[in-house]
Amino acid sequence: MKAATRTRYGPPAVLEVKEVPKPCPKDREVLIKVYATTVNRTDCGILRGKPYLIRLFTGIFGPSAPVPGTDFAGKIEAVGKKVNTLSVGDRVWGMHDEGLKSQAQYMTIREDKAVVRIPPNISYEDAAASAEGAHYAYNFITKVPLKKGSKVLVNGATGAIGSAAVQLLKHFGAYVTAVGNTQNMKLIKSLGADKTVDYLTEDFTLDQDRYHFVFDAVGKSSFDTIKHLLLPKGVYISSELGPGSENLYLPLVTRMQGDKRVIFPIPMNCRRTILFLSELLEKGSFQPVLDRMYPLEKIKEAYTYVESGEKTGNVIIQIPHDS
Ligand SMILES: NC(=O)c1ccc[n+]([C@@H]2O[C@H](COP(=O)([O-])OP(=O)(O)OC[C@H]3O[C@@H](n4cnc5c(N)ncnc54)[C@H](OP(=O)(O)O)[C@@H]3O)[C@@H](O)[C@H]2O)c1
Repeated sequence: MKAATRTRYGPPAVLEVKEVPKPCPKDREVLIKVYATTVNRTDCGILRGKPYLIRLFTGIFGPSAPVPGTDFAGKIEAVGKKVNTLSVGDRVWGMHDEGLKSQAQYMTIREDKAVVRIPPNISYEDAAASAEGAHYAYNFITKVPLKKGSKVLVNGATGAIGSAAVQLLKHFGAYVTAVGNTQNMKLIKSLGADKTVDYLTEDFTLDQDRYHFVFDAVGKSSFDTIKHLLLPKGVYISSELGPGSENLYLPLVTRMQGDKRVIFPIPMNCRRTILFLSELLEKGSFQPVLDRMYPLEKIKEAYTYVESGEKTGNVIIQIPHDS
């Protein structure tokens, strides 16, 4: 089978698409013919092995898995002897953010991991694009005491995480102010935002509204620059470590101070997210944002584009199969 591979951490140039042996499912695993996978910011981190902390999970001295990839949508081609919840022919999707070897024509995954059936009428591309960003958005949102009518500001509302966050926050009944650039204002409104801020013409930190929750989905701000936007007991979450990795220690410091808080959640339980998103997709309550599509052979270009930080939503790798 064809797969993207690499033998060391580094830039997109370390990737090579070549023939590798097709994996064979173990007793509790399914073999999946991959039709769509994304290149996302988690993949970029794993490709470079940065931040270094990531290497605790992906290999200290070099990548433990030669084939990258963290999410997938495809069809089950074979099942292990002890698989009893999934069957050959099932259309499935899922993710594992420590690496899944999904940027390939075939991959395997245990049936009890984050692999579930794709709802009817949802394309492989839409399923794959509903995994990574939505997983982080869902994990961050569910770590705050969100109520119907909570006021939330989302910076970076057009990224994979931000575009999912706006939709999920609206699903949970929040009032959402979303920040993006001029050309994405229409998109942000279509995601359900109640109020928009164009960061090319306005500074969102000068907003007159006050919020229960400020969520910087692209990690461009710091607690210091936004804390006046928070209501008493308000919570700030950034998707990045922040200046001097402050978002690692500010949760402790601000908890001791007892008012406005920083939290830096560690995203977990991909299966829970995939099951939840499957329900929303089936009901038509979640629409992933798709940007460019690339064939597997052009995966280096896809990584380079994603690393630019300029994608809108999700970048897809489409993997055709002969049959
Ligand atoms: N903490 C975690 O566990 C975790 C996990 C995964 C990713 N991350 C991090 O989370 C961040 C977001 O990931 P992602 O995949 O959602 O990002 P992304 O899709 O690459 O974000 C691109 C978007 O960011 C927006 N943007 C760029 N500069 C901006 C600015 N100054 N102000 C507001 N928006 C700006 C752009 O919007 P416009 O087109 O409107 O300019 C673009 O749509 C990344 O930094 C990634 O490393 C963290």
